[in-house]
Amino acid sequence: MPTEHNNHKNNQLAAEWVEQFRPFAKEGQCASYIPVLAEKDSNQLAISIIGTNNDEMKAGETTELFTLQSVSKVVTFILACMERGLPYVLERVDVEPTGDTFNSIIRLESHQPGKPFNPMINAGAITVSSMLDGNSPQEKVSKILCFLEQMIGKKLKVNEEVYQSEWQTANRNRSLAYYLMDSGFLDCPVEEALEVYLKQCAIEVNVSDLAMIGLVIANDGYHPLTKTQLFPKQVAKLAKALMVTCGMYNASGKFAAFIGLPAKSGVSGAILAAVPSHAGLDSPFPAGCGIGIYGPAIDDIGNSVAGVNLLKHIATEWNMNIF
Ligand code: DON
Repeated sequence: MPTEHNNHKNNQLAAEWVEQFRPFAKEGQCASYIPVLAEKDSNQLAISIIGTNNDEMKAGETTELFTLQSVSKVVTFILACMERGLPYVLERVDVEPTGDTFNSIIRLESHQPGKPFNPMINAGAITVSSMLDGNSPQEKVSKILCFLEQMIGKKLKVNEEVYQSEWQTANRNRSLAYYLMDSGFLDCPVEEALEVYLKQCAIEVNVSDLAMIGLVIANDGYHPLTKTQLFPKQVAKLAKALMVTCGMYNASGKFAAFIGLPAKSGVSGAILAAVPSHAGLDSPFPAGCGIGIYGPAIDDIGNSVAGVNLLKHIATEWNMNIF
């Protein structure tokens, strides 16, 4: 069980790490293609690690709210698998890494029949959002929020300003969606799929919320605090495999090779990592944990620079590499 003393010691260690890795933010920049994100304080860095007893280690700007962005892709993939069943989902989106940028369109035409390569790139995520259950985009978004709230245990909302900001600049995503519609990989009209996709990206969380999502994924869909199986083990395993192979965009290979954790990043600077029990043995979280990191200065690929360096340090210190 966590004790006051251990919590204090762990938080102190987390605070040291945050100050050690904060300077890496200078090597990145806040995402500029979404105008509202460009205004964020690029120097911020926060981390939360939550274990199966609800023991939390945290430091940095832990109350700062940020949007999920691409981290939401893991969540909607899991939800779509629950609602439609695996065969339906996998018929419409593959599970192969691309090595291309997250918003690339090139393979939709060069590989026939134009099936998106995986649900972690925009094309695949838009396809997944289009197949979610609900009669309207609002209904679909409510289901996503509800699903997340079961994991996090509090009410969440879409940041309307971020959503609007992205809606107005979403030409590339609109192109992807029209292409997907043309090749039969969209289950609803383009504008509806885009509304769901961009709203899921604009759901607001803090690092502890991210860590809770990571904890449930690490535990194969079982929520250790509410003691409920929120999604099937098989779906959780697939989600983790996709995070390892495709979760850090076209840096996923290097991330797997040198950090070795299932993780998903977003251009807001969010990183979610799921540490299964066998990887947590040398850490204060031997039964596994979820890690949430926020550092809005991202590199050219779209990953938080300070965040990736911090995660690499922790994974090395605590021998968390799943391989
Ligand atoms: O589609 C976009 O551009 C963003 N809303 C999400 C981007 C992101 O985090 C990177 N995606 N893999």
